[in-house]
Amino acid sequence: MLSIENLSVKISNTTILKDINMSAKSGLVTCVMGKNGMGKTTLLETIMGHHIPSKGSIKYKGKNIEKLLPFQRAKLGLAYVPQGREIFSRLTVKENLLTALCMEKEKNNIDSEVLALFPILNEMLDRFGGDLSGGQQQQLAIARALLMKPKILILDEPTEGIQPSIIKIIKEVILFIKKKKTTIVLVEQYFDFAKDIADEIVIMDRGKIFTSGKVKILDERKIKDILSV
Ligand SMILES: Nc1ncnc2c1ncn2[C@@H]1O[C@H](COP(=O)(O)OP(=O)(O)O)[C@@H](O)[C@H]1O
Ligand SMILES: [Mg+2]
Repeated sequence: MLSIENLSVKISNTTILKDINMSAKSGLVTCVMGKNGMGKTTLLETIMGHHIPSKGSIKYKGKNIEKLLPFQRAKLGLAYVPQGREIFSRLTVKENLLTALCMEKEKNNIDSEVLALFPILNEMLDRFGGDLSGGQQQQLAIARALLMKPKILILDEPTEGIQPSIIKIIKEVILFIKKKKTTIVLVEQYFDFAKDIADEIVIMDRGKIFTSGKVKILDERKIKDILSV
């Protein structure tokens, strides 16, 4: 579905990503792991079109997309939930959700199935995004991405700084989306969360792929070792 070959990215003359090779298979959850500062966010931002690679390619369904603009990639079905959520704090929950529909014909039609996944948002449609707790904002960011009916959902550390009860909701939502055959790329730092939902794991270390493979065959001790601070 998504395949990345020999991808390198430079930001202000520093090479941040070096020769990345990885893929996200259709209908599976691919989890990108690694400590802080290893390049995970830069990789997702490059997939979404926020950085132009200095080398290499990104193919989606066999077509090169590495030169497309972010909105063109969104139109192809890539949706992104950035690290730190980035919701609109001075818009209401409902208005935040409606921003996902700006390219649709039915600009007011919030899919009730998406809202049903996040009952708390349904109760808070008229609140300002900025007045929500971190966990509620994370749910809003995921709901907004789902309203775009993505073919690939890309999430950057959705559990970061979130309390366990909400992490459980996020896990259930990811598994529900996976059942519906949406391809998922998830950045995550906690192996215990990742191993329950990931099919494949890619581990990054200083801008490179350290190792990758099916979650079942990777050595759990070795992974925890590289992820520990
Ligand atoms: N806009 C930027 N300008 C300069 N350096 C950056 C920029 N964005 C990220 N970096 C550097 O790239 C490296 C990888 O960062 P990042 O992709 O955010 O890592 P991660 O998400 O794994 O924590 C870090 O060393 C960071 O300082
Ligand atoms: Mg990051």
